[in-house]
Amino acid sequence: MTIVSAEKELLAIYGGEPTRTTLLSYGRHFVDEADIQAVVDTLRSDWLTAGPKVAEFEEAIAAFVGAKYAVSFSSGTAALHAAVYTAGLGPGDEAITTPLTFAATANCLLYQGARPIFADVEPETLIIDPAQVAAGVSPKTRAILPVDYAGHPARLDEILQLADRYGLIVIEDACHALGAEHRGRRVGSVAHMTVFSFHPVKHVTTGEGGMVVTDNAQFAETLRCFRNHGIDTDARSRQAAGRWHYEMVMLGFNYRLSDTACALGLQQLKKLESNLARRRQIASAYTEAFRTVPAIQPPMVRDDVSSAWHLYPIQLELNKLSASREQVFQALRAENIGVNVHYIPVHLHPYYRDRFGYKGGEYPVAEDAYQRLISLPMFHAMTDADVADVIAALRKVIAYFRE
Ligand SMILES: Cc1ncc(COP(=O)(O)O)c(C=O)c1O
Repeated sequence: MTIVSAEKELLAIYGGEPTRTTLLSYGRHFVDEADIQAVVDTLRSDWLTAGPKVAEFEEAIAAFVGAKYAVSFSSGTAALHAAVYTAGLGPGDEAITTPLTFAATANCLLYQGARPIFADVEPETLIIDPAQVAAGVSPKTRAILPVDYAGHPARLDEILQLADRYGLIVIEDACHALGAEHRGRRVGSVAHMTVFSFHPVKHVTTGEGGMVVTDNAQFAETLRCFRNHGIDTDARSRQAAGRWHYEMVMLGFNYRLSDTACALGLQQLKKLESNLARRRQIASAYTEAFRTVPAIQPPMVRDDVSSAWHLYPIQLELNKLSASREQVFQALRAENIGVNVHYIPVHLHPYYRDRFGYKGGEYPVAEDAYQRLISLPMFHAMTDADVADVIAALRKVIAYFRE
């Protein structure tokens, strides 16, 4: 170990020894033998798509979150698109969402010809600020798309109250938040429609995949039709009824999730509770350790929610450091800690700047947070040694750059 001064250890980026020898990624799937066997069994079955595993997976997710209906999709993005269609949004309509999210949350509105209107986030939790949502409502507003950033549920009660007042539909982007709770209720049982993703870095994976859950039977029917080209029946129900005839009643897409993917999802779902428990344990270990590390703000969780901890984003207090976020980021990467940044605020992407004229400065809280955010590795298969490496590397880098 090379010591630069009494408290500064030479960083790997400057030629010191890295904290670990292999890169620890920021997120990663965990697939075991039972998962593999479930997929193999389905590959040997009569249905590779539009078969029984799809309904089984949908029923299992609906039961887990406490919703009446669940409709699966080929990705979280497809699920968001379908939810926006189902909410009836079209050209000339607006919906309010957060700038601090993955582009898909806003893009799904553009797919339908509707316009995203951004509302800034709260500085502590980085979830959408209901007061900013209220300020953004116009006669064209049809929906609100809050995001459960990092796994922390949005302020759903306040947002639903606003929706009631103005006759809006709430589509919760819970792609980070399967298993999170809002005032004792599971995410998925609160908003009008809730969208999940089963991308490999999520709590449960199907490779690619997504789901919309809702208590509204009409919504569920439209969602099912939309994911199947806009056709009113599916192949399995026609086969069971001995019918060939079908009709296309709306312009839909092929957004179906396959039986092999659903078989994997069903098997993965059995581990969801333990995955969530492990993520909560890792988050507690980080937060506890970072109490004594200056110049970083660990993520804040409100008392009335339970986060699903998809991400663990810290905010750097740059005024206490002699380095920028980029330098801290690169230093951690050199230590073999696979940090990431979530997110470039959506309105600052070149496409949004060019199309809507955003110049920066419109959403100061999200933009300020973006300059300071770093997501630390967070996934349920992390070992205690991995967690200790992240803590050690962060301590080392912060000690080096501390003013
Ligand atoms: C907040 C958010 N919304 C939507 C999506 C899109 O989900 P998918 O990758 O399954 O299309 C993601 C993906 O990570 C996301 O993080």
